[in-house]
Amino acid sequence: MRYIGNKTRLLPFILRTLRRSGIDVGSAHDAFAGTASVSRALKENGWRVHSSDLLMSSYVLQRAYVVAESAGRNLEEQASELAGLPPREGFITRHFSPATGDTRASRMYFTPENAGRIDAAREELEGWRKAGKVGADDYYLLLAAIIEGADRVANTAGVYASYMKRWQPNAKRPFDIVPEKPIKGAQPAEAHLMDATDAAKRIGEVDLVYIDPPYNSRQYVAYYHIPEILARGWTDSAPAIRGKVGLLAGSEGRSQWSHGRRVKKLFSALLAATGARQALVSFNSEGHLAPAALQSLLAAASVDGKVSHFTQSYRRYRADSEREGRHYHRDTALEHLYLVRLR
Ligand SMILES: C[S@@+](CC[C@H](N)C(=O)[O-])C[C@H]1O[C@@H](n2cnc3c(N)ncnc32)[C@H](O)[C@@H]1O
Repeated sequence: MRYIGNKTRLLPFILRTLRRSGIDVGSAHDAFAGTASVSRALKENGWRVHSSDLLMSSYVLQRAYVVAESAGRNLEEQASELAGLPPREGFITRHFSPATGDTRASRMYFTPENAGRIDAAREELEGWRKAGKVGADDYYLLLAAIIEGADRVANTAGVYASYMKRWQPNAKRPFDIVPEKPIKGAQPAEAHLMDATDAAKRIGEVDLVYIDPPYNSRQYVAYYHIPEILARGWTDSAPAIRGKVGLLAGSEGRSQWSHGRRVKKLFSALLAATGARQALVSFNSEGHLAPAALQSLLAAASVDGKVSHFTQSYRRYRADSEREGRHYHRDTALEHLYLVRLR
């Protein structure tokens, strides 16, 4: 899924760094799991994985891509059945597509046809869950596939903070549902819908904690409010939304880590709370924590005062969301990893 900070492209760098540092396969806590890309790679490589994130949308991806061990025999047919349902006028149609003539519904996130099909799939899947027609693994595999399918046809420049004023080619394509195959790990995995530090306390001793927090004031729950609404659902209670783009109204999912002044304290508290022997930290220098500040708090938490630093440059493409036509800038960014021994 398109997600700021998604580490999919950096997985070889992360795994190589662990190998070259002599860290054997063991147990890990991916504390800010996001798309679950790192958790999934660790599980594939034999690790026993715990993952955590504040967002329900991340929890759904963790359950589907890391925790799920096997899919039911009918998963593909069930996905086709959900994708082929006639459109319904549900929460997404009413609030995130220009379908109903309602003034709020000028939000052009999805074409009316796709919005109705997303609504039908999401509501039907919830009915199946309640009726016991799908088990937990299949429920999360299908829900993750609905979230990813909706993301492919969302009329945005990548994040949901705004929508494009004209339909983009991807938004005009039909919504589809393609479930991923679950990975059978050597070790079972566990997902936690909770704050990283609370999860670290609950999980206790592990070999490694991987730390990839938000490094600027961007709130993920505001940038990805529609995946979050799809993850939470609306059949039992409709989420309260507000403002021009229909952000979630409550404080649920909002992160303290996005407040520049608090990050140092939060970081040190997480390092003190974790029962991990080693910490691997992804760092991005465009945020509100200076590299020297991070290095000194890592050195303070380290058992021997040592902090190992690894870098890799990568080319990235940035969408210029200010313009209608989606212009992309190519530039080179430096990805940093720090490794410290905590005990
Ligand atoms: C940089 S992203 C992680 C990306 C992830 N490594 C990946 O590959 O997709 C940061 C994540 O931290 C989550 N987050 C923010 N504050 C959190 C907290 N206090 N506890 C746990 N997760 C948090 C956000 O919801 C977001 O998914």
